[in-house]
Amino acid sequence: MDHDGLTIGEYEEGDLVEILEIEKDSFPTPWSPGLFRSERTNPLSRMLVGRAAHAQGTAVAGYIVFWRVADEIHLHNIAVRRDLRKGGIASRLLSKAIRDSRPEGARWVTLEVRRSNLPAQKLYEKFGFSIRGVRRAYYTDTGDDALIMSADLGRVPSEAVPPSEQRGAQNDNIA
Ligand SMILES: CC(C)(COP(=O)(O)OP(=O)(O)OC[C@H]1O[C@@H](n2cnc3c(N)ncnc32)[C@H](O)[C@@H]1OP(=O)(O)O)[C@@H](O)C(=O)NCCC(=O)NCCS
Repeated sequence: MDHDGLTIGEYEEGDLVEILEIEKDSFPTPWSPGLFRSERTNPLSRMLVGRAAHAQGTAVAGYIVFWRVADEIHLHNIAVRRDLRKGGIASRLLSKAIRDSRPEGARWVTLEVRRSNLPAQKLYEKFGFSIRGVRRAYYTDTGDDALIMSADLGRVPSEAVPPSEQRGAQNDNIA
């Protein structure tokens, strides 16, 4: 899909249908509608949605779900619509999550990723994540191991953060 720009904002109920389509296309065991709704009512959880503008309106391009607990961000979900991947959208979502969480005291970000998921690992490595541990056969659907990765938010390489998400960005409209 061609698009004329991306806006990142809070999750809205009307996003759910498109999010579920992306989710089903992205994961062997997709999150259910109920799981997304329960995140919405969880005070620790935040869901950001990237919306791509096109001639007929906007389409959900990707989303990120994370919790901030004390000085840590726990990244629970991130996905980008297949035909918009490799265009920097996940980087923008992750950067925004980090940028918004830093003033609240976040110093670390942690996550689990399938050992087989090399595109995601590359994304995280770009942000300075390293592997801190392994949970063997953690994913019961495929038997895949989970890699536990974390990054020090004070050491995120600046080239990982798109200019629009660097400190001092005036808004989240990205042409
Ligand atoms: C992983 C995912 C979110 C990346 O989204 P994206 O918008 O394509 O990522 P970006 O364009 O911001 O890419 C950032 C970096 O990730 C790496 N990367 C992304 N996709 C890649 C691929 N297919 N192969 C190799 N590296 C890749 C690159 O290093 C890239 O940096 P570069 O553009 O400077 O080379 C996307 O592939 C996706 O939705 N996958 C399915 C869901 C998923 O696996 N989520 C992660 C769960 S832990």
